[in-house]
This record gives sequence, structure tokens and C-alpha cells, in this order.
Amino acid sequence: MRAVLAPDDPRNPVPRVGDLPDPVPGPGEVLVAIEAAGINHADLLQIRGQYPPPPGESTVPGLEAAGRVVGGALPERWPPGTRVMALLGGGGHGTLAAIPTGQLLPVPENLSIEEAGAVPEAGLTAWTNLVAEGGLQAGETVLVTGATGGMGSFAAQLARELGARVLAVGRDPGRLAQLRALGIDETLTAGPDLARQVRAATGGRGADLVFDLVGGPSINAHLASLREGGRLVLIGLLGGRKEEVDLGAVLSRRLRIVGSVLRPRSREEKTRLVEGFASFALPRLADGRLRPVVEKVLPFERAAEGYKALESGGTFGKIVLKM
Ligand SMILES: NC(=O)c1ccc[n+]([C@@H]2O[C@H](COP(=O)([O-])OP(=O)(O)OC[C@H]3O[C@@H](n4cnc5c(N)ncnc54)[C@H](OP(=O)(O)O)[C@@H]3O)[C@@H](O)[C@H]2O)c1
Repeated sequence: MRAVLAPDDPRNPVPRVGDLPDPVPGPGEVLVAIEAAGINHADLLQIRGQYPPPPGESTVPGLEAAGRVVGGALPERWPPGTRVMALLGGGGHGTLAAIPTGQLLPVPENLSIEEAGAVPEAGLTAWTNLVAEGGLQAGETVLVTGATGGMGSFAAQLARELGARVLAVGRDPGRLAQLRALGIDETLTAGPDLARQVRAATGGRGADLVFDLVGGPSINAHLASLREGGRLVLIGLLGGRKEEVDLGAVLSRRLRIVGSVLRPRSREEKTRLVEGFASFALPRLADGRLRPVVEKVLPFERAAEGYKALESGGTFGKIVLKM
């Protein structure tokens, strides 16, 4: 098969596409011919040697993909030819992948294969962190930071579908305006004034939950945007890993901060998450209430260009490789 290979020198992290032996599906796995796959920041870290795959997972980057079943387990449930999308521990950036059946989802007819390749990682991360980690309830207000990216644009829609009021945060007015086409009408500008904007929007109360993709120096503005007893789930560190936080304010305002990563979770846990996400999100993907946003599709052999584009930023939604 063709696959994205680790660069020879991690200090010059340009991914190469080359040949690898075909994967062989193990018990409970299907072989999928990958047709499209989203690129994620984890892939950028992996080719730098900074985010190795969990034990037992493919060493090829790629945490989400869509394609057609070729063979393997449960042929009555996943017959050859079925269009599937999948959450992966690795291996999406190859032309073939062996995938546990519990991590597969059928592709709704209305989605293109490129859109399907952009759903699983954003969708499952949003589902896990809004519902399980964040405990989001209908009627609550959630602040989504980094809302114009691949993850944030899906999380904002999912939160709305869960019945929450969504305040979407970004730095670029043009990209924030694009969120409105997805039905995300309330947008706020990132910066030191954010907490004031949130208080103004919530009658002084603050948000119930922050879905935080940014962290870094913005963390204090995000914590200050919470109501007393509010929760912040830290999912991404686009703004940086370190910042001084007033723990006195965390303590006296009874705030809860939860850190969360999806990739190292067990296959059993991923299966449970996929089941919950499938029953809630598939009908909404099928009728367009949830829309994956794909800004750029690149031929697989130009993977290096796709990785570079994600690193450079400035896109709205996801970048997808087409096999
Ligand atoms: N914990 C997990 O399990 C998990 C799973 C998947 C992804 N993630 C993480 O989630 C984050 C977002 O992923 P993504 O795919 O949505 O990335 P993305 O497509 O690059 O979007 C991120 C958005 O955040 C904003 N942003 C970028 N750098 C920023 C900075 N320094 N300060 C403030 N805002 C910034 C940008 O919007 P504007 O320029 O328009 O403001 C961008 O559109 C990444 O850190 C990724 O690693 C975590």
C-alpha cells in the first residue's frame, strides 16, 4: 500500500508518501480501502516524533478516514463495498487500513467521501468532551474556543444539537462570519476582553462550560468567562502549554478543569463512544443538521502540502487527503 511515512530526520518533518506492506486485519477488524482522510494536529506532532501511536496501533499517521470495506470480520454487518468512516488510533493516511469493527460508522448517503473522512476525529472528540467530560445539558451555555477550525466548527454544531446555547470564539472576523452559514449565530472575538463579552451575552452570569481548543495565555480569559461552579474541558493547546493561573480564583469560584485526550483510550472505550455518537449524530448528518466543513481537498501524494497547510493555519474547517 501507499502510506505517509515518518520523515528520515524528525528535525526536518516533511512527510513522504511511500510503500509499506499491506495491513492484515486481526480478529474483530475489517480491511478498508481508504479513499479520504482528514489531517489533524496529532499527525503533525507524530511525524516530528512527539506523539507516538499507542501500543498496538499502526505507526502510519491518520486518526480518521473514510473508504470502502474490502473484507474481514462481521461480513454480515460490514459487507465488502460498504462505505464506512472510522475513528482510528493511527493508519488513516494510507491506502489500506485494518480497523476494529467497533470504530466503524456507516457513511450517510448525502455525505461525500471527503466529508466523511473529516467526521470521525472531530465528531468523536466533540461528543466525548461535550457529553461525557463536559456534562453538557440542554439549556446550558457553552463557549467553544478555536471555533473556526475543523474541530471547533463541528463541536459548535454538536453543542447546538444537544440543546445548548453556543458562543463561538475566534480571532478572524471573516472566518467567524462563515460559522453563521452553519447556524452558529453568536460569535465572540478572542482576546483579553473575552470574559466581558461573555458576561454581556449572559446577563452577567458567565458560561456553564468552556470547550477549550486553545489553552495557553488565553486560559485565564476562558476561566474568567465561566459562571461560578462552571467547567472547562481542555482539549487542545494551540495557544501554548504554559500559563500562570490564579488558583485562588479556581478554588473560590469552585471551577472544574478537566484535561482530555481521545487517541490513547482503549478500543472498548472508543467502541462505546462511537455507539453513542452514531445514534445521536448519524441522523443529524444524514439530514444536514450537522455539516462537516471541508475547506481543502488535496491528492494523497501531496500529503506534505496538506500537513503544511494545517500547520500554517488560516483555514476554515478541515483539510482532507484524497486517495
Ligand atoms: N484532546 C483530543 O483528544 C483532541 C482531538 C482532536 C484535536 N485536538 C486538538 O484540538 C485542537 C484544534 O484542532 P483542529 O483540528 O480544529 O485545528 P484547526 O483546524 O487548526 O483549528 C484551530 C482553530 O483555532 C484557532 N487557533 C489556531 N491557533 C491559535 C492560537 N495560537 N490562539 C488562538 N486560536 C488559535 C484558529 O482559528 P482563528 O485563526 O480563526 O481564530 C483555528 O481555526 C488542536 O490543538 C488539536 O490537537 C485534541
